[in-house]
Amino acid sequence: MRLNRILTVLALAVFSFSAMNCEHEQQETSQTKQREMKASVDQQVDQLLSQLTLDEKLSMISGYKVYKVAGVPRLGIPEIKMTDGPIGTRNDGKSTAYPGDICLAASWDTELAHEFGVSQGRDGRARADHVILGPAMNIYRIPIDGRNSEYMGEDPFLTGTMASHEIQGIQSQGVVSTVKHYAANNQEEHRMTVSANVDERTLREIYLRGFQIAITQGHPWAVMCAYNKINDVYCSANRWLLTDVLKDEWDFPGLVMSDWGAVHDTLGPANAGLDIEMPGQEWFTPAKLKPLIDSGKISMPTIDDKIRRILRVEVSMGFINSDRKDASIPLDDPSSRATALKMAEEGIVLLKNRDGLLPLDTAKVKTVAVVGPNAEPAITGCGGSSYVDPYNPVSTLAGIQNEIGADRVEYVPASEKSQIDAVIAHSMYEPLDPNTQGIKAEYFANRDLSGSPVLIRQMKKIDQKWGRRRPPAANLPSNDFSARFTAKIRPPTDGTYLFSLSSHEGSRLFINGEQVIDMWSSHGNQQENVHRELKGGKVYDIRVDFFSNWPSCSVQFGWGPALPLIDEQAAEKIAKADAAVLCVGFNPQFESEGFDRTYALPQDQEKLIQKVEALNPHTIVVVNCGGNVAMANWIDNAAGLIQAWYPGEEGGRALAEIIFGKVNPSGKLPATFEKKWEDSPGYANYPGKNDEVSYKEGVFVGYRWFDAKGIVPRYPFGFGLSYTSFALSDLKIKHVKGHENELILSANVKNTGDRIGSDVIQFYVGQDQPTLPTPPRKLAGFARVELLPGQKKTVQFHVDASTLAYWHPNTKQWSTDSGGYHVWVGESSRDLPLTAPVEWR
Ligand code: BGC
Repeated sequence: MRLNRILTVLALAVFSFSAMNCEHEQQETSQTKQREMKASVDQQVDQLLSQLTLDEKLSMISGYKVYKVAGVPRLGIPEIKMTDGPIGTRNDGKSTAYPGDICLAASWDTELAHEFGVSQGRDGRARADHVILGPAMNIYRIPIDGRNSEYMGEDPFLTGTMASHEIQGIQSQGVVSTVKHYAANNQEEHRMTVSANVDERTLREIYLRGFQIAITQGHPWAVMCAYNKINDVYCSANRWLLTDVLKDEWDFPGLVMSDWGAVHDTLGPANAGLDIEMPGQEWFTPAKLKPLIDSGKISMPTIDDKIRRILRVEVSMGFINSDRKDASIPLDDPSSRATALKMAEEGIVLLKNRDGLLPLDTAKVKTVAVVGPNAEPAITGCGGSSYVDPYNPVSTLAGIQNEIGADRVEYVPASEKSQIDAVIAHSMYEPLDPNTQGIKAEYFANRDLSGSPVLIRQMKKIDQKWGRRRPPAANLPSNDFSARFTAKIRPPTDGTYLFSLSSHEGSRLFINGEQVIDMWSSHGNQQENVHRELKGGKVYDIRVDFFSNWPSCSVQFGWGPALPLIDEQAAEKIAKADAAVLCVGFNPQFESEGFDRTYALPQDQEKLIQKVEALNPHTIVVVNCGGNVAMANWIDNAAGLIQAWYPGEEGGRALAEIIFGKVNPSGKLPATFEKKWEDSPGYANYPGKNDEVSYKEGVFVGYRWFDAKGIVPRYPFGFGLSYTSFALSDLKIKHVKGHENELILSANVKNTGDRIGSDVIQFYVGQDQPTLPTPPRKLAGFARVELLPGQKKTVQFHVDASTLAYWHPNTKQWSTDSGGYHVWVGESSRDLPLTAPVEWR
């Protein structure tokens, strides 16, 4: 392997100078130990490898039973059992549901990231898992990415640093951590086929940088490659990505597996550096591999390298001849639960607090109205492969009831869900002719309703679910057909009616020939509801079109009288309460892997917020989402805004603690929240055309874009309110003794309020006259500090050449220019009171 020529960024909070020398000696001893261990691992690996037959080798590089990789029992090589990740071990039934990784990132707490890793590792050991498929660490490029909540925000330094600590926590428990999805999987729309077209500098500085930090500092044993292509080459077949950069430059000794179904060929991926195909049995099969091996197109050293990597992981992690199950760890582990609670307490972000309304005073508040669809049941995680079925999730309603007593809580569900369920189950249709059941369904053997239907059926309601094993008909595969449903309806009276359409895959609704809902694209579960004034007794034509190119798909439609979400009685309760906690946002149905979500809140939530705000001036809006949402229509009249993310199974308890002041909020945004979607750097180049998306914004991602363009965000990167206040002072810069080209920055932070609280001090750096177009500043360090009222602490940051480096596209190297720079220290990317020039020699 080539020598690692990448400089390592080490700009974390550091300790004293003498401690640095001592660290140096410790490092040397531990490096010697590591070399010895490596030699002994290599020896065992070689021994095992020499005893394997070709068939045994090939059986180890293609998964089976969805989450397993075969072992070789005669040699004590165990079958490898994997579990998703990244926010709880989800594959064996109920488990602890932790908050989404973006909530962890919002804590900026590296110790907590480690603790989270330890807890997941323990959960894995309780379930005999060898491998956890997490952390997920793609960059937040656009607010609507369906998986933002599984990732760690827009900054590669924050992402890489948090992930490194999490990885070390997971692996400290004897379970492999898998970083995913390598790389540039920044949208779910067309994720299986889209090509992220990104220049090398942008890849190196933004989209690969977090992975690089995680690989070189966290040392995960596994990497999962992404579904998408980069510059027109599938990640699973991308030799530059998997071998040149990851394995050679970064010296990654572990294994690379594919995402599930991300492989599209045998030869390309096998030679590119993909070690295991998952879920397997399609491309890396003996039948496909052997002829290529026989013809010399895939060499035996290439196969042996894959096996060596798999064995290296197994030997190093102690898997050989051992059982992963640790029966002493409970499945519903109180310590995991405590971690989940701490993550929510630290990661939930208070964004608005008009006139210090929060925290609500338990002694003074008589009643609180808890309103909205997300108040109950608990919203713990987003949808898709990360969703964990929790043991005892605490909803926001339950959390608040526990905090102040159920008798002081007025609950108003204001949820369209029950209404929608009812209309889907009980919609009435006019008979089309005496022999029909009301709805005529025509099925087409194509995705665009063309030609004559191959099947016609009659049905009473539109509530269909199809799958690979349950296609619409024997000759109609569930991933390749379209359907048209036609019916007539006759509303009983004049009035407002609700029409609800949900589908996994494309659908649209027409009333009397006019299209009123358009979801005509391939997507995961989406729902749209519209209201229409109809005349009683009049007959209206209904038409629902549907198509699928995904094996599990569904469509549901219903209509009926629209009932008010908040009736008069409920309105009175809300108006009389001392405050209204309004719980809105997305849920696993509307924000999920597999599709990108809407920017606006789903269903009629904007109207709901406006209504509640009009009823009660003390409305605190609590939002579940993985990224920013449209706020323009309701934020000005909200008294408070809490960014709850997907807060895991203890989220409701954490929210109540924050609302009533038991916990002082300390979460800080790991992504910029723009005023409107159009302000986002990715807006102009999303979702791309013909499966090509150009990352034309280049390295100007997140705050880098807003700072360079002078666009004022609604809430900047790194921002979050507290119930106390902090003051920063005394920025000092010193050269490290004996290391003239290294600096130590220090600053003081004081709690100037009257409550204990934690602050995240952020350190940014920028070059005065950069050689290439470069953002004004980038995050280069952070430190989370807890302070008693009046207490003062000093934080320190370390700067070396790598802190200032950029990727030079011509030399294809990291470079650091000598000359003028500035450093900034503050509480968000837009609140940087301490700054100083620095001259780099
Ligand atoms: C997801 C991965 C996940 C895998 C296995 C894929 O669809 O992208 O994140 O680990 O499924 O469940």
